[in-house]
Amino acid sequence: DDDDNGPGCPGSLIVVSNRQPYRHEYESESEGDDGSIVVDEPAGGLTAGLDPVVQEANGTWIAWGDGEADFAVTDANDCVSVPPGEDAYTLHRIDLSEEAVSSYYYGFSNQVLWPLCHEFPDLIEERGDWANDFEWYRTVNERFADAVAEHATAESIVWIQDYHFGLAPRLIRERIPKAATIAHFWHIPWPTPETFAECPVSEELLEGLLGNDLLGFHVDRYARLFLECVEQYLDGAVVDHEEWLVDYDEGTTRLATAAMGIDAETYDEHARAVEDPDALLEEFGVSPEVTLGLGVDRLDYSKGIPERLAALERFFERNPDRRGEFTFLQKATPSRTGIPAYERLGDLVRSEVTRINSRFGTDDWQPIVYTEEYVPQEKLCGLYRRADVMVISPLLDGMNLVAQEFVASCVGEGSASGAAPGEPHGDGVLLLSERTGAHERLGADAVTIDPTDTDAFAAELETALAMPASERRRRMRSMRTDVFEADLEAWMDSQFDSIRRLHDPSESNDDD
Ligand code: ADP
Ligand code: G6P
Repeated sequence: DDDDNGPGCPGSLIVVSNRQPYRHEYESESEGDDGSIVVDEPAGGLTAGLDPVVQEANGTWIAWGDGEADFAVTDANDCVSVPPGEDAYTLHRIDLSEEAVSSYYYGFSNQVLWPLCHEFPDLIEERGDWANDFEWYRTVNERFADAVAEHATAESIVWIQDYHFGLAPRLIRERIPKAATIAHFWHIPWPTPETFAECPVSEELLEGLLGNDLLGFHVDRYARLFLECVEQYLDGAVVDHEEWLVDYDEGTTRLATAAMGIDAETYDEHARAVEDPDALLEEFGVSPEVTLGLGVDRLDYSKGIPERLAALERFFERNPDRRGEFTFLQKATPSRTGIPAYERLGDLVRSEVTRINSRFGTDDWQPIVYTEEYVPQEKLCGLYRRADVMVISPLLDGMNLVAQEFVASCVGEGSASGAAPGEPHGDGVLLLSERTGAHERLGADAVTIDPTDTDAFAAELETALAMPASERRRRMRSMRTDVFEADLEAWMDSQFDSIRRLHDPSESNDDD
C-alpha cells in the first residue's frame, strides 16, 4: 500500500479502549483551583498508533477518563476534542467511580480475565469474590455500550480493544443499527479449553464476544483455541473450523489473525538520534565498558522476570570470567499495583536482585542493575541500541512489542538517509521466549528460550554472547525486514481489510 496517509478506515470509526489517548492532569500536586492543566499525549504502542487513524477518520474514541483533570475539560456529554488545539476527533470519557475501577479494572479484568488468559488460574481463586467484580464488569461494559450508541450510525465501524470489554460487543449490538460493523481485537492470549474451564462466566463471556462481526487475535493458535472453547462451552454455537466462522443467535462472527506491529521507523529514528548510547549507561551507574544485557518489562507475573534472574544467576555461576565484564540492566515498570500477585512479584524481584548482587557483586561492579524509573521513549531506544543482548522471557505473552522495539532500535553507525529502510543496522542478539506471539514472527532469527528451563536458558545466553558478528548481523537484518514490513500500519490495514471483506468478499486492499 503506497498510501502515505496510513491505513484508511472504511467508515465512520468509533474506537473503544480502557486506556485513553490523552489524559489531563493538574500541574501542581496540590490540586488547587488555580492549578493549570497539562495534557499527556500517547507515548507509544496502541494508543499512539491508533491516534492518527482516528484523527484522519474524524472519529470518536471512548475510554475510561482516569486523569485527575479529565472532567474539568470535558463538556456536559463527557466529550472533549483532541488533540488539544487541533480538534480532529471526539474523545468521550467514561467517568468510573472508585468502586467501579476496583471491581471492573483491578477485579474482573486483571484478577480474573488476565490470569485466565495467561494460564494462571490459581490467581482467580485467590481473588475469590469475582461475582461482585463481574457485576461491575457488566455495568461498565453497559456504560461503554451506551456511549457507543450515542455516536453510532448505520455506517459506523466500532473497533473494540482488548479484554476489558468481553461483554460489550453483544451489548453494543443490541443498541445500534444492524448495518454497523462491530470488530474487536483481543490483545492477550486465548487460553486452552482446560484452563477456560476455570472461567466462572464462560458462557456469558463467549456470548458477549460473539456479538462481534469480526474478532481478531495476534496468532492463529489463539483463534483456534477460541473456536475450541466455543465448541466445548457454548451450546447452540455452530463452529466452522475451516472458515473460522461461528454462527450463534442469528449472528455470524468471523475470526481473523493479524500480528500487531510497531511504528518501526520512529524507533529507528529515535535510536539514530541518540548521540552517545554509552553516556546513557552511565546515567544508570553502568560502566560504558561492559557487555550489556537488557530487560524492559511491566512488572507482571506473565513476563518471566524471576525466571530470567534465575538464569542470570546460573550464567554467572558457570562463567566466572563474565563477572565484572557483563552487566544486565533490568528496567521494570510497576503495574496494577495493589493486586496481591503484583505486589508479591515486585517484592520477589527486588529481593532476588539484591541477593544475586550480593553474591557476585564487587566494589565497582554489579551483575544486575535494576531500576523502576520512568524512561522516556527516546532514551529507551538508546538503551535498546546499546544492548548486546536483549532478553525477553515471558511465560506467556499475546505479542510482546518490546521485542520488536529492540529490533527496530538496533541501528548501526552512520545516517540512514539514502540507505534502504532501516540501514545500516546493528548486531544485537534477541533472546526470545517461545511462548510469545512475537516468537511466531521472529523465532527463526532470535535465540529461542524456554524460560522455565534455567540451565538451557543460561546456556542460550552464553550462545548469544559467543555468536560471531556475521551471524548476529545476518539474523538482525532478517528480523528488521519483518519488523519494518509487518509494522503497526500494516496491522491496522489488515484489520480494516478484513472489515471491508465482511461486507463484500471481493473487496480487499490487495486489489487497490
Ligand atoms: P505489555 O503490553 O504486556 O506491557 P508489550 O511488550 O507488548 O507488553 O508492550 C509494552 C510497552 O510498554 C512497550 O511499548 C514498551 O516500550 C513500554 N514499556 C514497558 N516497560 C517500559 C519501561 N520500563 N519504560 C518505558 N516503557 C516501557
Ligand atoms: C497489556 C494489555 C493492554 C494494557 C497494557 C498495560 O498490553 O493488553 O490492554 O493497556 O497491558 O496495562 P494497564 O493495565 O496499565 O492498562
